[in-house]
Amino acid sequence: MAMKGAVQYEKRTAANGACVAVLTMDSAPVNALSAGVRTGFETRIAEALADAEVKAIVITGAHGCFCAGADISEFASGMSGPPLPVVINTIEASTKPVVAAIDGVALGGGCEVALGCHYRVASTRSQAGLPEVNLGLLPGAGGTQRLPRLIGAAASIDFMCRGAPLKADQAAKVGLFDTVVAGDKAAVLKAAVDFAAEKVGSDIGPRRLSGGTAKAAGVDFAKKRKEYDTLRKGEVAPQAIITCIEASTDREFTEGMKVEGKEFGKLMFGDQSKALQYMFFAERQCAKVPGLEAKPGPLDMCGIVGAGLMGGGIAMCAAEAGMRVVLLDVDPGNLDRGMAVIKKNYARSVDRKSKTQSQVDKIMSLISPSTTYDSLGQCDIVVEAVFENMDLKKKIFQSFDGVCKPGCILATNTSRLNIDTIASATKRPEDVIGCHFFSPANVMKLLENVRGPRSSPRTIATAMAFGQKLKKVTCLVGNCDGFIANRVMGVSGWTGLINGGLLPHQIDQAAESYGMKMGPARMNDLVGLDLFGRERANTGNAKPDTIVTDAMFAANRYGQKNGKGFYKYDDKLRLSRDPEAEALIHSVWKNAGATPKTMSDEEIIDTLYLPVVNEGFKCLEEGMASRPSDIDVCCVFGYNWPRYTGGPMQWASAVGLPKILEKLEAMGEKPSELLKECVKNNWRLNSKAFTARISSAWSGTWSKL
Ligand code: 3HC
Repeated sequence: MAMKGAVQYEKRTAANGACVAVLTMDSAPVNALSAGVRTGFETRIAEALADAEVKAIVITGAHGCFCAGADISEFASGMSGPPLPVVINTIEASTKPVVAAIDGVALGGGCEVALGCHYRVASTRSQAGLPEVNLGLLPGAGGTQRLPRLIGAAASIDFMCRGAPLKADQAAKVGLFDTVVAGDKAAVLKAAVDFAAEKVGSDIGPRRLSGGTAKAAGVDFAKKRKEYDTLRKGEVAPQAIITCIEASTDREFTEGMKVEGKEFGKLMFGDQSKALQYMFFAERQCAKVPGLEAKPGPLDMCGIVGAGLMGGGIAMCAAEAGMRVVLLDVDPGNLDRGMAVIKKNYARSVDRKSKTQSQVDKIMSLISPSTTYDSLGQCDIVVEAVFENMDLKKKIFQSFDGVCKPGCILATNTSRLNIDTIASATKRPEDVIGCHFFSPANVMKLLENVRGPRSSPRTIATAMAFGQKLKKVTCLVGNCDGFIANRVMGVSGWTGLINGGLLPHQIDQAAESYGMKMGPARMNDLVGLDLFGRERANTGNAKPDTIVTDAMFAANRYGQKNGKGFYKYDDKLRLSRDPEAEALIHSVWKNAGATPKTMSDEEIIDTLYLPVVNEGFKCLEEGMASRPSDIDVCCVFGYNWPRYTGGPMQWASAVGLPKILEKLEAMGEKPSELLKECVKNNWRLNSKAFTARISSAWSGTWSKL
């Protein structure tokens, strides 16, 4: 089989007449450093060095970018061909000057290739980054050793531990790029060829970043470790990165490379990196809907009905994506309040310097407030975002019929009502779909598009394109109670634990040690215990599983909003255990016949999250999700499930499905039939047999369209 990717070779004549070899990394779509590219480098560098006519070398990339780094898809299947660190050493050792011509992104191994070159010339649109930390890895091709020698240990720690790329001007400022040139790929390539030709005969020794040691001035490594322990809680890669950078400051390059190699190996074979690599592909795959061939409709103008927090947040996302937005609320007071909240949010962005005033002015100019439905006439998509009342929603959808142009997508942001019932209110149910944003919509990355039984393929395709336009991680899910994220997370074993003898801090501590940003008690306090407590009290719908929460509500303990809930809060919202709350919980237990318990963290985590896994299997069994990774994406982006576990389904895979089944049965849960089928047939979640089984469930619901 032919190897994926290659390095193209051509000769160019520079302005001063010197002949320069141009080596182009060529592996669509992002020139990842596959075995073909690495082998190509070895061959082409040797060719350029052997050719007496060639006086200098330029390295560049095809397909509109320099290089996105190591080929992540090779990690799981095992690598062949020359290792990247060796290839980069070969580039750096060249006796002829080597210049990187960067246009587009130079990321991960791509940035390390650039660091192996003697000079870096980039176009203004270029970016350089070492984002390996986001894959649970570290720059393992000399990046942790060469970069600190170039820009110092202090800047390198933040650059690598944050993993965010630098824009060209910033990269030049820190010394990562030598020159930034205006213009396109042709301009940067010409500039790099001329630059390289001018360096012929100069001493390139000092330009090799493998010499000497890195400057450690002003770095307190222990403090940095602590900082990233908090900033990237639970992740192992940042600490390994700091270990390597520390090594760059006190030992020579080859010794530092040994540290880098050892730390990289530990990360690469660890569970976190496997889960994060899985998430990298899961995030991209969820946008691809199996069986959907329809083309999306236009998306220039968006209408939003309801100027509350959700509606306002969606309006911000759409305007930031460059869409013209009509924000409609029939109550002028609500509309004014909604617009004021949006303005306040943007004023904060300007204060924090995440946006400039002129960017904000441009975004605000795209949002038109309105109190009348006829303003929706030109919209390509309208999103209803009023509170959860079926009669009101139906009335709004009837109004859409009269004003929206043919083909306009009619979306509802409901988080729990039946899409089909809402669709029944219109004469065009084929245009109706759920667009379930998560709160706050301008911050949370997930969009669940909920297909109703009558949503047309064009409607689905347009809603998927809408999510991508808004830069959301967008998943298509089925029309079931709670859709995916709320449904699976809604069955977590939290109420069983809090009603059954565990105090809030015991449950939260275990959940947070698993990696949840907030344990369930803290989360309830944040959301507000009055939210559903009041509804239950008004409707008399109290259930045995809400006894503790209802007692909190009855005692006026609403959570953060009034400073007391499961915990007590000071005026800066710092929480502490509250003897009053705990006494109340004890009295509820006593009345219910429960006694205080202690459980290990593992038992608490199993009780909380194994039911989530089980519900995930049920969603697949019913054809409500098209693949396990979509469920993981919904939990990671909708509920902040720790990304480095890969989500509940990937967690279940790592633990092993037979073990999961055994534990669920021991807990008295009714396991999903699909989970039992997997264990019986020894299926893994990435096996062909399992994929075929769930595809048939998914396409079964699809064909009912
Ligand atoms: N390896 C393999 N495939 C990659 C890849 C990589 N490094 N980077 C991107 N791709 C694939 C994506 O999976 C996607 O494939 P698909 O079309 O089949 O879904 C395709 O390229 C396009 O990617 P995006 O959809 O993400 O396109 P964007 O234009 O939105 O973004 C990007 C492009 C900024 C390059 C983004 O893909 C990205 O951030 N890539 C990852 C960069 C990275 O993490 N590099 C480090 C790799 S690890 C490493 O280098 C280790 C080394 O230190 C030894």
